[in-house]
Amino acid sequence: MYLERATVIENREVSSEKYLMRVKVEKSAKTSKAGQFFMLKPKNGITILKRPISLHNCRKDEGVLEFYYEIKGEGTREFSKLKEGESIDIQGPLGTGFKTDISNKTVVVVGGGMGIAPMGYLIDELKRGNRVIFIAGGRDIEALKIIDEMRLSDIEVYLRTDDGSKGEKGTVIDELEVILKRERVDEIKSCGPMKMMERVAEVAHRERIECEISLEERMACGVKACVGCSIKTLDGMKKVCYDGPVFNSKIIVDTTPSENTGCCGE
Ligand code: FES
Repeated sequence: MYLERATVIENREVSSEKYLMRVKVEKSAKTSKAGQFFMLKPKNGITILKRPISLHNCRKDEGVLEFYYEIKGEGTREFSKLKEGESIDIQGPLGTGFKTDISNKTVVVVGGGMGIAPMGYLIDELKRGNRVIFIAGGRDIEALKIIDEMRLSDIEVYLRTDDGSKGEKGTVIDELEVILKRERVDEIKSCGPMKMMERVAEVAHRERIECEISLEERMACGVKACVGCSIKTLDGMKKVCYDGPVFNSKIIVDTTPSENTGCCGE
């Protein structure tokens, strides 16, 4: 983990209230993993706390980090005003990342809403030695504009929106079920709202597929020093900023076999 002053090289609105910021750093890019996050300090950070922002992508060789973020309050609004050449203090990388040291697997990556944020880097890492299928979903076409910024030309992409304004109408879970009926999948990696993570975890458990989920819990300190991100799991209380944000899906789905192991599993 580093504390660095990064230089903004790009910061622009991708869709309504959602921005993509690229910053140049000295050290943090070298050790960053897909799924990790950074604490970013707003310009007038004397009165505003640092904000946790997940890493959207990382170009290790160029020392560039990319953040896809949504304006949610005063702090993130400050980020949106940053111009090229200005500096921002960042702390990270923080938290656990997705496991990407796998090869020759078929991996389905599922991102919902702002849960698409960590998927840029994850897909870049996975597609080197695996077949990657990406399912992205959101409320409408605006929620999926970030897709145009990602390097997806060499993987399979399926889009779903609630209103059908981009891709097929429906949810990412609908699409996941279609894919799982059609073919064998080795792993699922996903990020999105808790309800979506629960559904992804249930489907993965039902199909006996290894699955990692990234939880979008509210955070305060970002470094295990408060209780702002504590969640109750099947493996006890966890701090999302430290024990996560990426977890094995088993922590939210009960995988213990039923006591009555009759032929119907009831
Ligand atoms: Fe403070 Fe996780 S955000 S402990």
